[in-house]
Formats: sequence, C-alpha cells, structure tokens
Amino acid sequence: MNRRISDWRGLRVWLTGASSGIGAALAEVLIRRGARVAVSARRAEPLDAFVQRHGAQALAMPLDVTDADAWVQARDRVLAAWGGIDLVVFLAASWRPTRAWELDAAEARSTMETNVVGVTNGLACLLPGLLRDGGGVALVSSVAGYRGLPQALTYGPTKAALINLAEVLYLDLVPRGVNVHLVNPGFVRTPLTERNTFPMPGLMEPEAAAERILRGIERGRFEIAFPKRLIWPLKLLRILPYWLYLPLVRRGTGA
Ligand SMILES: NC(=O)c1ccc[n+]([C@@H]2O[C@H](COP(=O)([O-])OP(=O)(O)OC[C@H]3O[C@@H](n4cnc5c(N)ncnc54)[C@H](OP(=O)(O)O)[C@@H]3O)[C@@H](O)[C@H]2O)c1
Repeated sequence: MNRRISDWRGLRVWLTGASSGIGAALAEVLIRRGARVAVSARRAEPLDAFVQRHGAQALAMPLDVTDADAWVQARDRVLAAWGGIDLVVFLAASWRPTRAWELDAAEARSTMETNVVGVTNGLACLLPGLLRDGGGVALVSSVAGYRGLPQALTYGPTKAALINLAEVLYLDLVPRGVNVHLVNPGFVRTPLTERNTFPMPGLMEPEAAAERILRGIERGRFEIAFPKRLIWPLKLLRILPYWLYLPLVRRGTGA
C-alpha cells in the first residue's frame, strides 16, 4: 500500500508539464500547502514567473522530457538545491484530436516520445535515488487510456501505456518503499483541451483537478480518477466485451 501524506510542509515535489494547465495549478496548490516545488516544461518564462512569485520555495527547471541527458542535469540541480526529492509528478504531454486517416508518422512519434519516453527517461534517472531514500511518483495518464476511443489515435495508446506502466511500477516499487500513483483525469479546461470541438462532459477547472490529485495522493490512493460521474460509466464500458463496447462507443460518439 502507498503511504499516506498528512503534511506537505517542506516536502520536495518536482512537476513536469508545469508551465500551464493542471501542472501549473498543482504547483500553486502545493506551494500553498507548504511544499517546495520544482517546475519543469520546455518554456522557461512561466517557470521563471512561478519562481518570482514564490522565491526560495520554488525552483525552475526548464527541460524537454524527451531529452534523457537534460533529465540527468536537471535532477542534479534539484538535488544540489534540496538534497533529495520526495515526489515526482509526470504531467508533460501533447495531444491533438486525430482520426485514423490523419495519421502523421512524425507527429505520432513525437507524441509517443513526449507522453511515454518522457516518463521513462525521468524514471530511469530518478528511481535509483527514490529506491535509496524513499519517495513517490505519480503518472498522469487519462481516461482516454482505458480503451480505444475515436480521435485519440496516438494519444490514447500513450495513455494506455502509462496505465500499464503505473501498474507494473506499483507492483515493483511499493514493497520497496516508493509510492506509485496513477492519475486519470476526465476533462479539464486547459490549453490541451482548448482545441477539442466535441462535447466534454464533466469539464473541470485545473484548480479543482489539482485539489483532487493532492487529496488522492494524501490518502495513498493508487488510482486517482475524477470526476466520478464520468469515471463510473467509463469504468463500466471498460469491462464490456468488444461486441458490446465497440458498437456502444460508435453510437455514443457518432464516430
Ligand atoms: N486537460 C484534460 O482534460 C486532461 C485529461 C486527462 C489527462 N490530462 C493529462 O494531464 C496532463 C497535463 O495536461 P494539461 O491538460 O494540463 O495540458 P497543458 O496545459 O497543455 O500542459 C501540458 C504541459 O506539458 C508540457 N510539455 C509538453 N511537451 C513537453 C516536453 N517535450 N517536455 C517538457 N514539457 C512538455 C507543456 O509545457 P511546454 O509547452 O512549455 O513544454 C505543458 O506544461 C497531461 O499528461 C494530459 O495528458 C489532461
């Protein structure tokens, strides 16, 4: 079982994908709870602005998660500043609604590198320290990874990969003292979902999503999925046989 967290004060948390959306909201909530927060993304300006707002409690670590060497350099800078890392939340991702006939090999590769390789790069450089000193990781996947959905041509498979990866990590790491969380949000209003032209039931604000994520981590939950009114129907769809699932999704989405 994951350990619970009752007090964030002084904890050292590193977030990727923290220049906007859920990651930026999570960074602000963590600061309010007294954690120290390192923020990463490719764009340096929003990260620097975060540090200007929060001073010594914050660190800016501009980073392209697909660059394994950059991860190592950033980790060493975080360790030099803080001496350790208690929790890493992997949020960096890209998404573009895509149908099968729009498949572009270079874009698909880039999405997979950001969404999946970006996480394994980070894990490879951080796990030795986490296994030695304890701590936790949270992988932000999506309900789009539960099963195949129209428009999620390359994004869906990357999120399915993260769900599987988090399950494997939990089995291996929790007995060795490293917490593992899997975050599956529904729809959250961020730059990522701005381009969606389809209805987004249960759309949440990023601050509300951030609160839900922290509450789940505090309680030691493995899967943190929200909002419930979207999650429960999707969980039900997840266990249906294909002969029921595929026609239901076609009809429900108009695909
Ligand atoms: N919004 C939703 O409805 C929703 C639903 C389910 C799951 N999620 C997941 O929640 C997470 C956060 O998404 P969001 O909605 O908050 O979207 P967002 O505002 O677009 O955030 C994505 C973040 O990833 C960063 N990023 C993208 N490529 C990167 C790279 N190669 N290296 C480093 N950072 C990179 C972006 O910053 P830069 O551009 O500055 O690099 C940005 O900070 C994602 O994993 C997403 O899949 C979101």
